[in-house]
Amino acid sequence: MLNIVISGAPGSGKGTQSAIIVEQYGLSHISTGDMLREEIKAGTENGKKAEALINDGKLVPDEMIIAMLHDRVQNDLNNGSVKGFIFDGFPRTVTQAEALDSILKQKNIRVGVMLNIDVEQNELVKRLLNRGKTSGRSDDNLITIQERINVYEQKTMPVIQFYDKQGKHVRIKGTGTLDEVFAQIEE
Ligand code: AP5
Ligand code: MG
Repeated sequence: MLNIVISGAPGSGKGTQSAIIVEQYGLSHISTGDMLREEIKAGTENGKKAEALINDGKLVPDEMIIAMLHDRVQNDLNNGSVKGFIFDGFPRTVTQAEALDSILKQKNIRVGVMLNIDVEQNELVKRLLNRGKTSGRSDDNLITIQERINVYEQKTMPVIQFYDKQGKHVRIKGTGTLDEVFAQIEE
């Protein structure tokens, strides 16, 4: 099984590159951000808890997201022939990274590689403001974008060291065309 963690700041291109990877390799795409937006739309308890946090650019609690992730991995494995997973926007804290390792270990699978897409701040803000014109995402406004970037630097950047220690972290330069970014991922 090919299991990939795709990480990077808000707007770095995690979702965009995940879609290309899924097309080429047929992996199961697990985006915790997409899952939370679906829960909000469906009006579930988790959605209600998550909504204000997402609007403020904060992370939702580890316990909640880890439980959701665990259920989703289990469901995908139950539902047949999974070639592997791409974890998009998870893990976002060291606690989540440790939980992912233990969830996968129970199922005798492991993370193969952690790709961190690196894009400088001005470009992130530009991309997200531009996407905000059409995305309908409540967090694509300047104040929330800045908070999302702060939270990324404080809570999520330590996850890079976590995978560095395991020898699994690969930096991807996230500027250039989609094909140029994907070429580095393929390599
Ligand atoms: P999430 O949905 O994961 O949002 P994010 O991390 O802020 O990232 P985005 O989805 O905005 O960006 P992306 O990196 O996917 O880039 P994209 O490909 O879209 O999380 C949202 C919220 O949910 C969090 O803030 C948190 O509250 C909560 N949450 C989610 N997971 C959680 C977790 N594990 N724990 C706790 N809370 C969690 O690209 C962005 C734009 O750039 C697009 O318009 C795209 O077309 C463009 N673009 C992409 N690549 C290029 C390129 N090479 N050149 C030019 N433009 C490009
Ligand atoms: Mg995304």
